[in-house]
Amino acid sequence: MNRLLNIILFTFLLIAFTDCDDTVVQEVDNRTIPDSNVSFSKNISPIFELKCNSCHGNGKTEAGLNLTSPAYFVDGIIVVPGEPDNSVLVWTIEWKAGFPSMPPPDYSVPLTSEQIRGVKTWITEGAKDN
Ligand code: HEC
Repeated sequence: MNRLLNIILFTFLLIAFTDCDDTVVQEVDNRTIPDSNVSFSKNISPIFELKCNSCHGNGKTEAGLNLTSPAYFVDGIIVVPGEPDNSVLVWTIEWKAGFPSMPPPDYSVPLTSEQIRGVKTWITEGAKDN
């Protein structure tokens, strides 16, 4: 009997936590990003926090890359200000052949097209720490 209760409790907790995660992802995925004046702190950082920074920021810097502040990754290679189509970061989030797909496919779903457009607009506008 005790064991059954444990299983029920465990299942409940599992569902509660999974649900919670999904809600946060959906909330961020549903946000619209403006066509101009894209802000790093308001529009881009929440996406990176959710989908990138467990590996590129908060305690871990895979490939030596820290995405918590533009100061760390707007370097003329990972991000070329004004040139999204020449920025390695864009190739990775578009899952372009020959580059590591980010976030890694076994870890998470890709960014939404709205999020990719937002990142590109932010880079086009100068990749500012705004
Ligand atoms: C689960 C961990 C993980 C997550 C989440 C993740 N990355 Fe990565 N990232 C890596 C690893 C590992 C590498 C190195 C892969 C390689 O070189 O094959 C890497 C490499 C990169 C590179 C290439 C760096 C270089 O110098 O070539 C970029 C750009 C990048 N990630 C961006 C992102 C972005 C943007 C996100 C979120 C949308 C993200 N990553 C999410 C683990 C992760």
